[in-house]
Amino acid sequence: MEDVINYMVRIFRRKYEEVRHQIERMIDYGTLDIAVLEEYSRLLKFKEWIDSDLGFRYFSLENARLILADKLNIVRGDLVLDVGSGDGWFSIQAAIKYSNAYFYGVELSEEYAEASEYAKIFGLRNTYFLYFNAYSMPFPSKKFDKAALFFSLANISQNTEDLNKLFIEIYRVLRDDGLIGISEPLLEDFPNNLGIILRNLYEHCSIRNETLLSLEQVVNSLKRTNFDIIHIEKIRLKSTGRDISEAKEYLEQYYSCRLPTEIFTSINTNKIWTRDDPPQYTIIIAKKKSM
Ligand SMILES: C[S@@+](CC[C@H](N)C(=O)[O-])C[C@H]1O[C@@H](n2cnc3c(N)ncnc32)[C@H](O)[C@@H]1O
Repeated sequence: MEDVINYMVRIFRRKYEEVRHQIERMIDYGTLDIAVLEEYSRLLKFKEWIDSDLGFRYFSLENARLILADKLNIVRGDLVLDVGSGDGWFSIQAAIKYSNAYFYGVELSEEYAEASEYAKIFGLRNTYFLYFNAYSMPFPSKKFDKAALFFSLANISQNTEDLNKLFIEIYRVLRDDGLIGISEPLLEDFPNNLGIILRNLYEHCSIRNETLLSLEQVVNSLKRTNFDIIHIEKIRLKSTGRDISEAKEYLEQYYSCRLPTEIFTSINTNKIWTRDDPPQYTIIIAKKKSM
């Protein structure tokens, strides 16, 4: 069976060529066809992901999103909540593979609307993207079979108190014995002291909507909110990171802030990574205890 990422690229290229010809004809005839213009507009936006090295890398991420979907044992008819769905790549990729399940993305930025546009390119009818706050979701209790957080946990919760609040809300909307799956670059996934340095940089640069959480912090919080941990796995990524000589430029760009030179003398790795481009990430699967 064709790999989902290759399938998406192939569908995009075919549609892009077709729609480009329609646009050329439209210009020649001097007409305006809004359906064609809308399709071209969403294809051009998606093209930015495919054409940029960094964009494509994040979009495909060595199949990390599909690995998480597989670990959740999604079956026909499952309702899967995608918490912090961003541009929608977890739900979109998983919805292509698991076409008999339904994916509900919850996202607190304008990216929720972009995700809906991308889903249209692939003709998906089993994804929904909603502008909701993950801490208070307007869903009935026990509605979802699975919940997924792909690289979103430390964007939503930066401390233990918030983690507890988030997991209590996810517990509420999950059915009894429902699964929560988290893929997240954690503090320990960065070698030597790099995780600690990077975490400190979030404070140095006053970035409030991202950090590096520790495995202990996440696991303890899941247990405290009545989840049983059933699987923890570390996945190494192959071609990530930059040479240490690029550290200053890379980190200053990532954190959007000027960094003091002493930070760079304390880094004792020969490569530099960031949370969105980590050397490794952790998958945690936990089951809701029925009360
Ligand atoms: C790194 S992105 C997620 C990537 C996405 N899951 C994927 O598959 O590509 C993390 C997202 O969490 C969202 N987020 C942060 N706080 C949130 C909240 N309270 N409720 C919902 N989404 C939130 C951010 O807006 C951001 O888009």
